[in-house]
Amino acid sequence: MDDLESLAAAVDGTDSVVAFTGAGISAPSGVPTFRGDDGVWDRFDEGQFEYGRFQRDPAGFWEDRLELQAVMFDEEYEPNAGHVALADLAAEGILDGILTQNTDGLHREAVRSVTDADGGDRRTDADSETPILELHGNSQRVRCVECGQRQDNDTITERVEDGEVPPRCECGGVYKPDVVLFGEQLPATVLQRARSLTRESDVFLAIGSSLVVEPAASLPRIANSTGATVAVVNLEATPCDSIADVRCREDVTEALPRFRDAVDP
Ligand code: APR
Repeated sequence: MDDLESLAAAVDGTDSVVAFTGAGISAPSGVPTFRGDDGVWDRFDEGQFEYGRFQRDPAGFWEDRLELQAVMFDEEYEPNAGHVALADLAAEGILDGILTQNTDGLHREAVRSVTDADGGDRRTDADSETPILELHGNSQRVRCVECGQRQDNDTITERVEDGEVPPRCECGGVYKPDVVLFGEQLPATVLQRARSLTRESDVFLAIGSSLVVEPAASLPRIANSTGATVAVVNLEATPCDSIADVRCREDVTEALPRFRDAVDP
């Protein structure tokens, strides 16, 4: 198989197609990536955002978090043509899972907007039918470490800006961004589900991720070992290129609409 279009043309209606995404899919929406030139980890020290640091020094953690948020989530980002292409495939019942490392919520937004714009022609319950697994959580929420209560991140950010560091829940517990920090375990059920969707997939698309941290580094290999056709869509080479059946060095906003258009629903 030499390109994404041939892969799309070979997708059978019964095939399980799974998309796994990283920061590169949101880069055309303006969200910075983590690695590479001007990546977030060039500007910040990963240690500032470790779970251990949050536990030791939640006030300092939240002060630094505000600076990170100003870089990462300062604008009203919108889904781009790459997110929309995946949402279309989900609405058409072709995509069986969107697994993402991103915490920006843009896949959910794209699926919602495609579903809303559908007027009932296609599956209207795509959000529930095609699971969107946010492996690293969602930055739009915070969660109390004591009672588990969730809150909108914008509300809590305002309180931190007004000097409440660390921000606390009514129960007295500290709020933590509802994301997986360095040194923290991924939620076991989400990870298990992601692994099983990966094992069951016939076509596994690894999109816009450097594929260097776990579980990103191993999911394409699991897919490959269980017989899936693996495609890597990335502007640059990745460590999984050697096991990929298709390597597409293209911008997600061009590659994914082409893939969608070439799949016969
Ligand atoms: N189209 C295709 N690929 C792109 C595009 C684009 N428009 N823009 C960037 N890329 C690719 C880059 O070549 C790079 O390989 O996206 C990848 C982004 O890699 P990272 O910045 O490492 O992001 P990601 O793989 O999602 O990082 C994984 O590491 O620190 C963490 O928790 C953070 O979830 C994140 C995890």
